[in-house]
Amino acid sequence: MCGIVGYIGNNAVADVLLNGLKNLEYRGYDSSGIALNDNHTIEVYKASGKLGNLYQLYAKHQPQMANAHQGIGHIRWATHGKATIENAHPHISNDGKLVLVHNGIIENYKELRNKLENQGFVFHSETDTETAVHLIDREYKLCHNLETAVIRAIKQLKGAFAFCIMHADETDKIIAVRKNAPLIIGIGKDENFIASDIPALIGKTNQILHLNDEEIAIVHKSHVEVKDTKGNTLNKTIEKIEFSPEVISKAGYKHFMLKEINEQPAILRKILQKHLPKAEDRVALADSKLNIDLSQVRNITFVACGTSLHAAYIAKATWEKWLNIPVEVVAASEFIYRYNLTDEHSLVIGISQSGETADTITAIKQAKEHNAQLIILTNREDSSITHYSANVIPLEAGIEVSVAATKSFMAQLAALYWTGMYLSEQKDNQNKFLPLKRELYEIPALMEEILSDLSDIKRMGEKLSKFKQIFYIARGIMLPIAMEGALKIKEISYINANAYASGELKHGPIALLDKDTAVIPVLAQGAVYEKTLSNCEEAKARQANIFALSNNDKDKEAALFDEAIIIPEVAEDLSPLLMCLPLQLLAYFAADELGREIDQPRNLAKSVTVE
Ligand code: M6R
Repeated sequence: MCGIVGYIGNNAVADVLLNGLKNLEYRGYDSSGIALNDNHTIEVYKASGKLGNLYQLYAKHQPQMANAHQGIGHIRWATHGKATIENAHPHISNDGKLVLVHNGIIENYKELRNKLENQGFVFHSETDTETAVHLIDREYKLCHNLETAVIRAIKQLKGAFAFCIMHADETDKIIAVRKNAPLIIGIGKDENFIASDIPALIGKTNQILHLNDEEIAIVHKSHVEVKDTKGNTLNKTIEKIEFSPEVISKAGYKHFMLKEINEQPAILRKILQKHLPKAEDRVALADSKLNIDLSQVRNITFVACGTSLHAAYIAKATWEKWLNIPVEVVAASEFIYRYNLTDEHSLVIGISQSGETADTITAIKQAKEHNAQLIILTNREDSSITHYSANVIPLEAGIEVSVAATKSFMAQLAALYWTGMYLSEQKDNQNKFLPLKRELYEIPALMEEILSDLSDIKRMGEKLSKFKQIFYIARGIMLPIAMEGALKIKEISYINANAYASGELKHGPIALLDKDTAVIPVLAQGAVYEKTLSNCEEAKARQANIFALSNNDKDKEAALFDEAIIIPEVAEDLSPLLMCLPLQLLAYFAADELGREIDQPRNLAKSVTVE
């Protein structure tokens, strides 16, 4: 949540900062701002609302910004205080000389604010961040050295932070520091960059330096020094990243979400080639790292949030029977406050697309403290969550820009299939799952078949956009897919959609059904298909409109349904991999019909770095 950027070099600073912020918009879009250090004077420009408002402000003031050679910028997802200009970053000291941007939450800000106010510092915002500015400023006035002031101040802060800090009198540097919030340094030639995440640096540099917690980078134009909080210089390795500008372009699609949905067959093909090069062979680890002693494992717990949590529920449905070990799935935000029974006989698996989700990171941290074995599944191998275990399984979905997760969800499912198979083959020391593996190979082509003609799904999505309430119903392995479908349509179209185990309808939710409600049964042929049909009958009898998603051809003409989308049939265990596509597309087309801001839905951000 919140994106921060910094730049020191000879190029037009404001352009570099605004460009960087544009590529970090997925992290928040409530307000934005930049600060420039121009000839010992700090200029701050802030706007509430979308980044476009800051661009407009910039257009008016462009000539005043021409001579600056260093600057910092911020895009906000509001936590403390509304999305107003006063609360927008950068925040500035009372003498107008020290300025900073922040991502994270300062937990002891109230107590610090009281002290600082008693000492005469004047606050202009409701944010926790402003406390940090005055705190560093107080230290600066004592030592007259920005680096020392920052080190002294951060020792007094509790919580999470990534800061970029500038002082009008120290025009040769920007200070960057982090604790439990991401921050990277981009190394250029006679210019250097700071950013919350790689997209801000794409097209600028591919040389990256990762900062660890409580490391301080002193970023000059010609070089970067990294120190610990005792002032010792650290030897950091510069890494090369491979991202090209195309990964953050829409490539002709109307929205990133649609582009990312369409990328799924190619992503799955790539994953299968890597981990299941031949169906007849055992699942390969490829270059993923996994060192698990399964003989010690008596229980498996998945911790995750949102879409990643739904992927975990799907894994539970297969892993329990493949491994014969009890599996539970817990929302990370619940795991961290419950009585923790995890021990050395537990395998705890954290799933996070971003690898920066605060709740999931805390859950993994706690499991580690309880001596559990850990596995991390993430789309970002460079993310904070990977610091807690060497057992990292990369999702390999590529950068996902749309706030609504699509391709990363499918890649999570794929990773959970191959990892579950891998562990099961290890446990029993034999090659297993031949029919399933063979069928997996068919799925990318079947995905392409679904994507080749979207007319029916589009029409159904447009119809759904007219409803105020949508019920997704399913049983067994399709229930988490229904939950994911409901989440997807809710977050981008703002229609109230909820998923129910279809057998539970009659225990309460059925009271809500009438002729103005839509019900979406998610049907895969297998153990509970007929049972779900019976539940559809119950809904039909209450005059609900039934729009089915099914993999049974016969459902196309069934009188039970007002409409049905039919997708190809695959083994029940694999059906989530195919069914996620029409569900994502239904949400997309409903939201598009309603004219929603699909890639940046209101109130959301892509990485939720606060509890
Ligand atoms: O990065 P993570 O997978 O940890 O994120 C978890 C959720 O915040 C995320 O899946 C969220 O629910 C998405 N907006 C879903 O589209």
